[in-house]
Amino acid sequence: MTYTVPKLTDYSAAALEKAADECIAACTTEAEAVRSDADLKSFRDRWMARKNGILTQINDLWLKGAPKEAKREAGMRVNELKTRITELVEGAHSGAGADSLASEFVDISLPGIRRPIGAEHAIVKTSNEIVAVFQKLGYSVAEGPVVETDYYNFESLNFPPNHPARDTQDTLFIAGQQSKPQRERLLLRTHTSPVQIRTMEQMRPPIRIVIPGTVHRNDPPDASHSPMFHQIEGLAVDTNITFGDLKGTLDHAMKALFGSSVKTHFRPSFFPFTEPSAELYVTCFICGGSGKRGADPCRPCKQTGWIEVLGCGMVDPNVFEFVKDNGYDPKKVSGFAFGMGVDRLALLKYGLDDLQYFFQGDVRFLEQFG
Ligand code: PHE
Repeated sequence: MTYTVPKLTDYSAAALEKAADECIAACTTEAEAVRSDADLKSFRDRWMARKNGILTQINDLWLKGAPKEAKREAGMRVNELKTRITELVEGAHSGAGADSLASEFVDISLPGIRRPIGAEHAIVKTSNEIVAVFQKLGYSVAEGPVVETDYYNFESLNFPPNHPARDTQDTLFIAGQQSKPQRERLLLRTHTSPVQIRTMEQMRPPIRIVIPGTVHRNDPPDASHSPMFHQIEGLAVDTNITFGDLKGTLDHAMKALFGSSVKTHFRPSFFPFTEPSAELYVTCFICGGSGKRGADPCRPCKQTGWIEVLGCGMVDPNVFEFVKDNGYDPKKVSGFAFGMGVDRLALLKYGLDDLQYFFQGDVRFLEQFG
């Protein structure tokens, strides 16, 4: 039988208590019958709604109808009752009762959910190791944008428009740039060298920086190529920097990276932004420089005993001309720069035969470097 609020005629303490007990009993029974969220809503509305809810009715029927001398006693009773009913209504929940308590039981002695934290990617790891070697020599880290302008990627690095050296670094160009002057057109940077100029615009000499980052070239992916790869650039500028400083710094870095027994070897090369330029070779750390692995030829060094690791050279005075106003007068300062491909070094370091493993995202491969 559903509960309805009775009119009171007897306002004695005993009668009030009886009426309140009946009301609480009804509310308790209804709270226990709540099974769903919809039940819960109608239960709450029935008891608590401002307009015609049971509490409001009690207020109207029991309080307002009370004779003067009983008002105080009735007021206190009704207040107590309201508190109790509010507690009951607030404590009710869908699926109330013992069953739901059992289903909500949490065994706090069980181990928690383990979230694997993952591992550093082999290329990031190699890159950090190389950067750390230079940080110990006092170099700081600089970075720059991957989407770069023609000016920073080519022109200010002494690749004039239409110069054939641009062909060696073909890349992906951002569409719809034809209406802009050539130097403002956007492309995916082909090397980290644009950050040389960007940093020299911001910081006066002397500077010593290393620049890790991703670069892009128009190379279809195969075992030794990828249209996206990683480089680390280095730049040191001060008064009286010589090729001897370049050789000493890189010889030290190679020994720190590949072991103290490696030998270094510089061969003349060409880059538009360095003069003179060189390629640095180290004795093959797979075969130790012999060109052989047991009876077999050593593949990574193509049996030569030497592995090319980077391009380098003395900063071309034409490059300094672009940042002359920030303290880089080529008559007063000199510097050296170098740039190496991290992916190839990681490949050699881990003895892999295919660069593509690094980019396929196969966790079974990647987790080995954790
Ligand atoms: N930026 C050159 C490249 O990507 C490498 C390099 C950097 C050469 C600095 C000399 C000095 O091929």
